[in-house]
Amino acid sequence: MARKIIFASGKGGVGKSSLTAGVAIALCEIGFKTLVVDFDIGMGCLDLILAADDTGIFNWGDVINGICEPETALRTTIGPKLLVAPTSDDVAFTADAVKKMIASYDRDFDYILFDAPAGVSGGFLLAAECADEGIIVSTPDDVCVRVGQYAGDKLYSLGIENVRLIINRFNKKLTTHGHYLNVDEVIDATVLQLIGVVPEDRKLSYCSVTGMQILLKSPAKSAFYRIAKRIEGINVNLVI
Ligand SMILES: Nc1ncnc2c1ncn2[C@@H]1O[C@H](COP(=O)(O)OP(=O)(O)OP(=O)(O)O)[C@@H](O)[C@H]1O
Ligand SMILES: [Mg+2]
Repeated sequence: MARKIIFASGKGGVGKSSLTAGVAIALCEIGFKTLVVDFDIGMGCLDLILAADDTGIFNWGDVINGICEPETALRTTIGPKLLVAPTSDDVAFTADAVKKMIASYDRDFDYILFDAPAGVSGGFLLAAECADEGIIVSTPDDVCVRVGQYAGDKLYSLGIENVRLIINRFNKKLTTHGHYLNVDEVIDATVLQLIGVVPEDRKLSYCSVTGMQILLKSPAKSAFYRIAKRIEGINVNLVI
């Protein structure tokens, strides 16, 4: 059975999709069969970040609606397999239908990562229903940590007990100058266990244009590896 992890945040644009993709690629390179599911209904972008093959036409809504077989909806990418999100939120999916659809992939993967939309409704709730573990992504600023804590609490209230934190876009220099919160301050404010810190990395910001294949060697890529290993329970140093 696959481990199912939701990547979520209170605030938008904090790096959920980039980090879901990066950690998924790292898990694949370590040797785990990994599936990424885009839950940003109507606004999915993981096919671009993961440079998916452009031959696929189906999304996970088509699987639920019986338009295609589960296997047919899988897209091939530079790393994990990908299920793209339905392109419109005109049709509401029930949590039971989404859970059943995800269950049809359970035996074929070691990990299934869910990229949630910002906030705590819609695709977030559907993904949370399917997940056993959670990762809250937060940038080191007051606004993001406040709503990040809220999103973490929401996951706990939905029965997900293992919720951890990734601090994204960390910039040591700006933190030292007091422009951003430091690591301890973010941990204290979110009340979550830290699983990794991803630095501000200009290369990663290009990935929404170029796809993640450009990240051959970069500080963000190294951070994704450390996070993937920690998810697996391997003891690796926290690099900040
Ligand atoms: N560590 C980083 N360093 C530099 N740029 C980053 C970093 N993390 C994310 N970005 C950039 O920030 C932007 C937003 O990232 P992304 O789309 O992954 O956020 P998101 O939380 O998924 O957004 P949304 O809430 O809209 O789904 C992108 O342009 C991305 O390349
Ligand atoms: Mg996103």
